[in-house]
Amino acid sequence: MNKNGFLTERIAKLTKNVKTMAVTCLQWGDTGKGKIVDLFSGWADIIVRGTGGANAGHTIVLGLKKFIFHLIPSGIHFDKDGKVNAMGRGMAIDPEIFVSELSLLDKQKISYDNLIVAGNANLTLPVHILLDLANEGGGSKGKIGTTGRGIGPTYVDFYGRRGLTINDLLNKDVFAIKLKRNLDYNLRVLRGYDPVMLKELLFSERLSKGIYYDSQNILNIEAIVSKYVDEYGKRLGGLIRDVDAYIIKNAGKKKILCEGAQGHNLSILHGSYPFVTPSDCSLDGLLAGCGLNRSYLDLALGIIKGFYMTRVGDGPFPTELGGKLSDDWCGGRSSEGKVDRAKELEKYPDVSVDDEDEFRQGMALRRAGDEYGATTGRPRRVGWLDLPLLKSALRWATKDAALTKLDVLNDVEEIKICYAYDYQGSDYRYGDKIIRRGDHLYEAIPAAEVLQYCQPIYNSFPGWQGSLAGVTDYDGLPRQLREIVEYVRNQTDILPRIISTGADREETIFV
Ligand code: IMP
Repeated sequence: MNKNGFLTERIAKLTKNVKTMAVTCLQWGDTGKGKIVDLFSGWADIIVRGTGGANAGHTIVLGLKKFIFHLIPSGIHFDKDGKVNAMGRGMAIDPEIFVSELSLLDKQKISYDNLIVAGNANLTLPVHILLDLANEGGGSKGKIGTTGRGIGPTYVDFYGRRGLTINDLLNKDVFAIKLKRNLDYNLRVLRGYDPVMLKELLFSERLSKGIYYDSQNILNIEAIVSKYVDEYGKRLGGLIRDVDAYIIKNAGKKKILCEGAQGHNLSILHGSYPFVTPSDCSLDGLLAGCGLNRSYLDLALGIIKGFYMTRVGDGPFPTELGGKLSDDWCGGRSSEGKVDRAKELEKYPDVSVDDEDEFRQGMALRRAGDEYGATTGRPRRVGWLDLPLLKSALRWATKDAALTKLDVLNDVEEIKICYAYDYQGSDYRYGDKIIRRGDHLYEAIPAAEVLQYCQPIYNSFPGWQGSLAGVTDYDGLPRQLREIVEYVRNQTDILPRIISTGADREETIFV
């Protein structure tokens, strides 16, 4: 049997009797969900996204070229096979980005005949992008390090009961009334910001170079109505559907693959609050955003990078290699200002994954794993696998897991796994308990007030120091690697189902 036939057989075995499955990340995102979703897209009839918006980014290979998509589900290149790609109610959709992704598909002659978008998905407006950029810029103290895509303010308006939906693009009168109501509120908020900064932002590329600017009222309502309804509404109108009804009708009958975005530790409900994204990107949040719930779920794969982690944006990261130095460097707060891959390479041409200096070691792992933000190009902060955080994520996930990107550690001499924290903050009342300096925590309390004072306690393992190329089954993996998998399994009870040893489909081991 050729390698593809072998893969299909393994996928069929894992999905036997499965009708609904979900793929979510159990860390801070960027764990290689795209590859796992891609593996199962051939199996699925329907691929549905349920959370987040253009803050996400996944690479799709079209022909010989690679493209980064933010909104359209990863299964779009299976459209030609009749698969339905759906964008669910839980998403926040910026129609400008959506339209530009459709144009790219047109240009590449990739069909999207079966792409549908939920009418009740949240609509990102220019005011949301403006607020996001204004909150994050100008030396603001409450910075989160967002992707600047307007995601936070979109969901804030949803919960504030003044949000607009994708379906509003279809009804000009309704759109205009709801927009006016929304801006009655948001313009009052915007008047508290520096008008010069707002004008500058409104003339930026991200906000269509001034088309929404109004010198009296900050935002020009007519310009927004015209662009959104007359242009985007017309372009997207044919794709808008009652996706909730469609999914429920097919649940348990067709094969549904729910595609997660971001990662559990970024969930507004369960993540390292307030350094989180505003949607619930946990397993339950994904299902709700797709119009489903756990009663329909047959299989959920939680993605975990083997055996490191990354984080983009601000917030505590106990195992970060290089600690504050790395945080400042990646967050653009070092003397170098904003950095990207090219700048890093120029400043630090020779770094090693075994460097004694942890900042440099983290940079080398970042390079080995190509850990630069798909949406923002920011360098991702890198650290060792953190089991206390994983245990806390597993409270809300199933035990089935996929370990990804193992090949990134091929050359590392010593691999560290954090199994506990040494709390170094001042006494902290946590409900009826008190956490004291020197206490050891074996499961994370993800709140930033606690996590920021947690020092990692590690177990060290020798690396396997060799290539994983050509390995097709678990027993063929190096002993050192299997020992670490067994350790993680014993500590957390996860059931590794897949081990990914490279970007290609063939570099996948089913355990
Ligand atoms: P927002 O989602 O743009 O509001 O950003 C909130 C936080 O989530 C920031 O730390 C972002 O870097 C992070 N974030 C948002 N989307 C992603 C993603 O797809 N991968 C990794 N981090 C993300």
